[in-house]
Amino acid sequence: MDKIIIHGQNRLSGTVRCHGAKNSALPLLAACLAAGDPCRLYNCPRLADVDTSLDILQHLGCLAVLDDGTAFVDPTNACYREIPDALMRRMRSSIIFLGAMLARFGRAELSLPGGCELGARPVDLHLSALQRMGVHVEEQHGNIRCRCDRLYGASIPLEFPSVGATENIMIAAASAEGETVIRNAAREPEIVDLGNFLNACGAKISGCGESTIVISGVRRLGGCGHTVIPDRIEAATYLAAAAVTAGEVTLTHVCPEHLIPVLSALEKAGCRLENSADTIRITAPQRLGPVGYIRTMPYPGFPTDAQAIIMAAACTAEGTSVFVENIFDGRMKHVGELCRLGARITTEGRMAVVEQSQNLTGAPVTACDLRGAAALIIAGLAARGVTEVSGLCHLDRGYEALDRNLRSLGADIMRVSAE
Ligand code: EPZ
Repeated sequence: MDKIIIHGQNRLSGTVRCHGAKNSALPLLAACLAAGDPCRLYNCPRLADVDTSLDILQHLGCLAVLDDGTAFVDPTNACYREIPDALMRRMRSSIIFLGAMLARFGRAELSLPGGCELGARPVDLHLSALQRMGVHVEEQHGNIRCRCDRLYGASIPLEFPSVGATENIMIAAASAEGETVIRNAAREPEIVDLGNFLNACGAKISGCGESTIVISGVRRLGGCGHTVIPDRIEAATYLAAAAVTAGEVTLTHVCPEHLIPVLSALEKAGCRLENSADTIRITAPQRLGPVGYIRTMPYPGFPTDAQAIIMAAACTAEGTSVFVENIFDGRMKHVGELCRLGARITTEGRMAVVEQSQNLTGAPVTACDLRGAAALIIAGLAARGVTEVSGLCHLDRGYEALDRNLRSLGADIMRVSAE
């Protein structure tokens, strides 16, 4: 089991290039199964979850490879097979193959997905939406069996703007018979990216990024070449790392527009931010102020995926910050580990109050989920002494070369293999 060893308090400075977005690349790869011709995804990150998506595509008879940042998927010879539980359990995004398999084969048999343990993560919104599209759904003992003679367009009001459910509906509806209208759709940038990809394949989708998405089904999707949007949560991670080390860092290949609530919190904490269309330059103060009152919300609100990351920064600040996690009911597992580093955090249900602590001091800590792993690394960069972070299997699902990039910015950070 690898560990990351950090000797904290080095000031970060320099420039780092952000990768393509994990939460865009994964639904895009699933959507390639529904395409009729080969697809290329440029700026695709090399992540454990991307490898899982490629494994699922290969399991379903596609040619699927990632080479030098470009994923190539040829779905021409795709053949129907059940997706084994072992593959489904590796990540949450495996559920997005449901819509793609129904579009491609008219049937799907798979088990409930895995992914970070953030509390209950049901798929009821996915399944009820597909039933409205004419899909017969059986769900028993964690297994899902779906069949349909044909996918039909439908009016689909979502109780909650679920990202994954919106993605599944878009992929299924792109080649359904008739028009689909999704109301209360997710508005994340990754939804817009998926819509752009499907339209490049010949779909007729409008309204992505708004609460109402209209999809006019086409008979057949072609293929395309598409560039994955920048990863806004990876960007937030590097910004927080600079913030806790009084650093001065420039991020390139990033979209500031996708990060407004995070930039606002860092400015409130005393950081200076200078943005261009695809760069963000952060200059942090010697010591951060509080980030204020952070409530996670669906996009364009404060992203839940940045909650742990910005909380880590708040642990180093003068003054008190408050976080309320409104998206997941179990996304505070990083709090206990941050407290091992000397953070002063009290939680009550979905709320965490972060008070000023003297100094963070290094200690062995264990990541419980992807963004919690990033938070512990950020806190370790600020802590006096040595911090050892284990549980890197979570980190590898969503970050490419995080330790190497932080080292290039001046961090004393090393990944070691531990027996
Ligand atoms: C996506 O997960 C992201 N993952 C998550 O990022 C992100 O935190 C989340 O969207 C919210 O932005 C990927 O894109 C691969 P949801 P998803 O469906 O689609 C409830 C990361 O760290 N819900 O919008 O699973 C659900 O329980 C990961 O990169 C239902 O009740 O999120 C949750 O409370 C973590 N029924 C809320 O909606 C459903 O059928 C948001 O879930 C579906 C969801």
